[in-house]
Amino acid sequence: MPHIVVLLGSTRHGRASEGVARYITAQLQILGASVTLVDALEILKNHPLTETDIPAWMEIASRADGFVVVSPEYNHGYPGAVKMVLDGAYDEYEKKPVGFVGVSSGPFGGIRAIEQLRQVCVELGLVAVHEQMLFGFAKKAVAPDGTLLELTHQPRMEIFGKALLNWVERLTNYKIN
Ligand SMILES: Cc1cc2nc3c(=O)[nH]c(=O)nc-3n(C[C@H](O)[C@H](O)[C@H](O)COP(=O)(O)O)c2cc1C
Repeated sequence: MPHIVVLLGSTRHGRASEGVARYITAQLQILGASVTLVDALEILKNHPLTETDIPAWMEIASRADGFVVVSPEYNHGYPGAVKMVLDGAYDEYEKKPVGFVGVSSGPFGGIRAIEQLRQVCVELGLVAVHEQMLFGFAKKAVAPDGTLLELTHQPRMEIFGKALLNWVERLTNYKIN
């Protein structure tokens, strides 16, 4: 069974991204994955800012076959918390797929944050999955417990989830040296 780590990238009180991350987690489980939902707040809250490596995250990342980053859009970018967590590991990402889920209160669903995240994830050695999910008007789209309220996202979720798991399968035996 493929193991996916879903990174919840918002650390704010009342974050809309939490419900979205719960929805994504449940849907990937329905598609046959084992999924760990990892909260950037938990990873960072006791982590010294003087250290780049984050051993707890390295451990989690090493066990993952693939990742999903659920990122809000702040000032047309992704939050620093997402970058700090991602920078906390490196070798653990090698040739593993990553899917992106954007979250915003406005109509664009975090697309600007995700476009930037793609560049960073390629440098980390991850394989960026083309399919993505964009949750505009996020609090109306998904409830805090992960219940989908805007049902038009469901067909896209299935395409996104299947694409991610397909890449996990394809990359499992990928070796260049
Ligand atoms: C500092 C800050 C900057 C933001 N900038 C944007 C933005 O550039 N574009 C946008 O669509 N929403 C922006 N938002 C609103 C977020 O999209 C909104 O908070 C959304 O719920 C996702 O973030 P959350 O999971 O932290 O709630 C901003 C929110 C904050 C706190």
